[in-house]
Amino acid sequence: MISFAFGRGRDTRRRGRVRPANQSRWAARHGAPLFARATEWRRTCGMVGPRATGPVFDDAFRAQLLELFRWRRDVRRFRPTPVPPGLLDRLLDAASLAPSVGLSEPWRMVTVDDPARRAAVRASFEACNAQALAGQAAGQAAAYARLKLAGLDEAPCQFAVFAKPDPGQGHGLGRATMPETTVYSAVMAVHTLWLAARAFGLGLGWVSILDPAAVAEALDVSPGWTFIGYFCLGYPQSEDKVPELERLGWEQRRPARSTIIRR
Ligand SMILES: Cc1cc2nc3c(=O)[nH]c(=O)nc-3n(C[C@H](O)[C@H](O)[C@H](O)COP(=O)(O)O)c2cc1C
Repeated sequence: MISFAFGRGRDTRRRGRVRPANQSRWAARHGAPLFARATEWRRTCGMVGPRATGPVFDDAFRAQLLELFRWRRDVRRFRPTPVPPGLLDRLLDAASLAPSVGLSEPWRMVTVDDPARRAAVRASFEACNAQALAGQAAGQAAAYARLKLAGLDEAPCQFAVFAKPDPGQGHGLGRATMPETTVYSAVMAVHTLWLAARAFGLGLGWVSILDPAAVAEALDVSPGWTFIGYFCLGYPQSEDKVPELERLGWEQRRPARSTIIRR
């Protein structure tokens, strides 16, 4: 939190204090110039300004951060290189720094190493993808068939993310009118992990072409949890600034301004 330091380094402004009417007239005439002079003096002494209570992020860091956003990709093609032991745990820890409604931390991350469970997820993908292909318009079907929409065969690390729809943690704060915020929170955690992974040179691929009930059964988790997605993690075969779907002509990104509505 940024706090503004006055006096001896603490925010000494009192909240909710009622000023007598004559004091506000006096303040209007004398207060502002006096305050300005006092502020100038304090600034000279280094006593005014946002108090640095955490790391300071400079221009170089901001530029790097933007590059990280630009170079994050959904990855479906992985190298066989294993992910170093402990790194997935570090990424899952980073994900848990995400914001969550009422601080409910409703995400549940299920790492999947068991070949039989992976095979069951893969079978669900095959079935759902075949169904999706069958549902494509005539002009799109051939293009859809050419897409690679999951790295389930190659990704060395795989995990699923669920959201607990009614977590006791957080005491329901923020969810009364928008129960879907538990899902939003879990997605925030995924995005945090996605960026953190990219910072380690790892690629993450989101697989949603799945039957949620089949995945819950394959992973033996509560059927009441909301399925967020299944994720493939590993070192990417290549890196790119342009999304794969754009490179393959399926879709293209639009300028940010085309999604902004001003009222
Ligand atoms: C909710 C969600 C579900 C997605 N599901 C899939 C999927 O099943 N298969 C796939 O190949 N990509 C999937 N993606 C990745 C998107 O296709 C990808 O984010 C988009 O094309 C933009 O590319 P980029 O992430 O590289 O910027 C999904 C992404 C999101 C956010």
